[in-house]
Formats: sequence, C-alpha cells, structure tokens
Amino acid sequence: MTSRDRAADLPDGPTTDPATARSTAAAAGPATALPAALLSTLEEIVGPGHLLRAADLRAPFEVDWTGRWRGEAGAVVRPGDTAEVARVLALCDEHGVVVVPQGGNTGLVGGGVPRDGALVLSLTRLDQVGAVVTRGAAGAGGGADTAGEVVVGAGASLAAVQVRAREAGLLYPVDLAARDTATIGGTIATDAGGLAVVRHGPTRAQVLGLEAVLVDGTLLDRLHPPRAAGLGYDLAGLLVGSEGTLAVVTAARLRLVRPPRHLAVAVVATDGIRAALEVQRQVAQAVGPLEASELMTRAGLSLVAQAPGVRAPFVPPPPAALLVEVAGAPDVGEALSATLAEVVGHVSGVQDAVVGIDAADRAALWQLREAHTERLAARGVALKLDVVLPPAGLAGFIEGLEGLVRDAGGADAEVVVFGHLGVGDLHCNVVGVAPAQVPAVEQAVLGSVVAAGGSPCGEHGVGRQKPDWLARVRPAGDVAALHAVKRAFDPRGILNPGVLLPGSLPGQQEGSADHLVEDQQGQGPA
Ligand code: MLT
Ligand code: ZN
Repeated sequence: MTSRDRAADLPDGPTTDPATARSTAAAAGPATALPAALLSTLEEIVGPGHLLRAADLRAPFEVDWTGRWRGEAGAVVRPGDTAEVARVLALCDEHGVVVVPQGGNTGLVGGGVPRDGALVLSLTRLDQVGAVVTRGAAGAGGGADTAGEVVVGAGASLAAVQVRAREAGLLYPVDLAARDTATIGGTIATDAGGLAVVRHGPTRAQVLGLEAVLVDGTLLDRLHPPRAAGLGYDLAGLLVGSEGTLAVVTAARLRLVRPPRHLAVAVVATDGIRAALEVQRQVAQAVGPLEASELMTRAGLSLVAQAPGVRAPFVPPPPAALLVEVAGAPDVGEALSATLAEVVGHVSGVQDAVVGIDAADRAALWQLREAHTERLAARGVALKLDVVLPPAGLAGFIEGLEGLVRDAGGADAEVVVFGHLGVGDLHCNVVGVAPAQVPAVEQAVLGSVVAAGGSPCGEHGVGRQKPDWLARVRPAGDVAALHAVKRAFDPRGILNPGVLLPGSLPGQQEGSADHLVEDQQGQGPA
C-alpha cells in the first residue's frame, strides 16, 4: 500500500479547511487533532522516530527562540529527503492539513511557529552540504566576485556551509550570530541580511539556484536554471523571502566569494547616532568599502559588558558605538587606525576608538555586537521591532525612540537598539512592556518609521508579527498581486497561513492583528 492509497482512506475533507475554518474559527478555537490515519501515513513516509506526536517531543518546535511566539502543533514531521517532503506535502494538500515549514527556529517574527494544531514540517534532516565547485570549474554566473558555489540542503546550518566554504579557501557571505542553529532554508525563506549585508547584500544575492517542492508535491528543480534569458517567470526568485507561504525550499545552490586577505575592525565610541554616522562616512571614504557597519547603544553595551568572556573597551559605556570592519592590503589596520586618529577628538561627538587587527582582537570586538541578542534574552522576552530607515531618518528616529515607547505606555520598559547601520536596518528591542501596551508601542514605533519614509519590516521579515504593516506600506495593487501569487502556488491556503500576507489566517479579518502569547513576559527564552 502506498502513501497515496493510505491517504485515500483518510476521513473526507480538510482537517483545517481554510474555507470552513474561516467561518467557524471564532467559535471553534484551535483545530482538532490531526486524524490518526493521516498521522500513520506520515509516519510511514518518514519512518519511525521522525513523526513527533508526544507533547514533550513537540515542545521545542512550538516556541521560537525568544519565547515570544508559541502555538500548538498537531505533530512534527521530519522528512529525510526531498522525495519525502514531496509525499508529505501531497498528502497534506489532499487533506487540507495546514503545514508550517520550520528550519532552525531562530526567526524572530513567529514565521516558523505553528498554531491551532498545524503540522510542523521540520527541514533539519535535509542537512547535506555538497562539495565546493570553484568558479573555473563552475563557469560564469553569480556576478564578477563569485569565486565558487556549493549545493546544500535546506536544513544545513549556516555554520556548516561557512565551514565547507572555508575549507575550500572561500567564503559564504551571509553571517548571523545564530549561525550554528539557523538553517539555509530559513535564511532563504526570510531573505536574511545579517552582519555582512552592507558588503555582500542579503541572502537573495547569494542564491544561484533553488530546489523546492510545491504544495501538491511537484518538484520545482531550479538548482541549475538555464542561463539563457527570456524563459519566463523567476520562480526560484519568488520563493526567496516568501517565508514558507508558497512552497517548501529543499536545497539551494549558493555563491561563494573569495575571502578578504586582510581585515581590521574598530569600535568607535560616540556621543550618539549622528557622530556614529559621520565616522561611518569618513571610514568608508578614507579606507574603502565597509565589510560591516554595526551600531550599538549604551543600553546594549551595558548588558553585554556583564557577559562572560566579553571585554568592554569603554567604561562606562558610551551613548553609542559603531563597529566598522574594513578589508584590503596588509596595512589596512594601519590605514584604519590612522583615519580614526584624525577623527577621534576632532569630529564632534567622537570620543574614543579601539582597533583590532589580529584575529583574536577582531573576534573580541565582534563579541560585543554578537552577544546582544543572548544578553537581551536573559533579561526577558523582548518585543522585537526590526525596521529600516532611510539615511536621513536614522538619527531622528533613534533619538525619539525612548520617548515614543514611554508615551505609548512603556514607561518602565528598557529600550535597546542595535543593528546593521550600514543598510539602515535597526533592531529595536523593548523589554518589560506590559502585554496590554504592546499594540500601542508597536503602533507608535512602526508608525513613526513609516512616517519617516522607512519600512516597518527589516531583515527579520514579516512573519506573524507584521502582515498588517506590510499591507499598510505596499500599494493595494501590490498586495492584491501577492495574494494572487499565493493562490496560484497554494490554492487551499495550507502553507503557513497567517504569515506574511494580511488576512491569510483562517478566521482572521484583514486588518486584525495577530495575538502574541504574552504569558512568558519577563521570563527568559524557552
Ligand atoms: C542580529 O542582527 O543580531 C539579529 O538580527 C538578531 C537580533 O536582532 O536579535
Ligand atoms: Zn540583524
């Protein structure tokens, strides 16, 4: 008996039929359990041990890393290869079972967290990392600075891909502090930016090809798309940033670049954002293109100063600090030091600077920035508002942020801002805001970003947190087109409903905000 035969024996009708649920969700509450026959077919597909049904086994898949986003999964299915993903999806599509694809669960906007008894489709077993092919063997493609490529499974960790590239003398130019856990599939689903985004662009810029499975189980093989132009829609391109709502990415062909030979890092203490922006400008002009440009502020620097192993360069922490990384000739460290010597004490608001040239010193400076998320998590469950400001709006926004939060009811909240200054992407973290005030704080902060001509959605994506904000900032015609694309890929709406698109959750009215589970407020991450 094949799985399709077994599927035919399942009870009629979808488990969480979007159409039915839309009219009854308010009364019905969470979806009922997944049918036993469907579960046993799933287990047959993936093998014993890879369908997780018990509450304690499901638990780690039901809450995100921060502890902010949580929900109930009917089960967790862990296919071992693309063919199994295809069989799982075909079965779920046939029976209208809602599927939530999940990678390393390090996303920050709830995009991979289930609810209402959905089936979690965990991709972490698709963790193969292929051999690196260098550019000479691979031929052209991927732009002038592409030096090689590698094909990897969606469940491979970012760190595993980085290591494989390094072994071949190359670099995978996406990096995040969550590199050990974040998966390539997850970074593609969110089009992650990360610490090298100012130099190499976001994940989208690294994807040379994709393999994915459509909701009905059809394989979409665009790993090695023909180079000829004019062959129609870029289907793989549509999937980057689609947050698991269109198809399930199972593998990717990624571009690799030549790593810089010589690097230098500086952390520059300033009296605020304006001086930090001026340092960024002067370093880029004098030393060359920035490999990274990251902002930290006093609240975050104070938190990380307490972290084990962190060496705080400035005591007490300054109001703001800029981490800049540059690459170039063997004397790039001296060039950076010389530029900063002209800036410190001469440019208004620039207080001090430390430069790291050898690997250990550079790592120690990076540690200041990378420790932010974990130290924040130890403080409590932060409301994370990831936004992008145009250059002219950055200073005003940051200077007004605490006031906005206070006036919106977060008087006792702690506000910690850091982020990818080089691309204007700021991570605004609000710890200790009462659950009832969350909508007002979100409205105040995100509303002011929009008023300043920025985007309420940064590199963390839209997830469950911001579909309504997406609808506010994209023209109505755009939003209609997004819905049309969604319907074309996923006619029954079973792939990650409630994520990315406004009004896509069964029972959810367009314009209604998703509900956060706030009962963990004040506790550390799960
Ligand atoms: C980062 O840039 O460190 C990540 O986006 C994580 C975070 O915002 O907490
Ligand atoms: Zn970030």
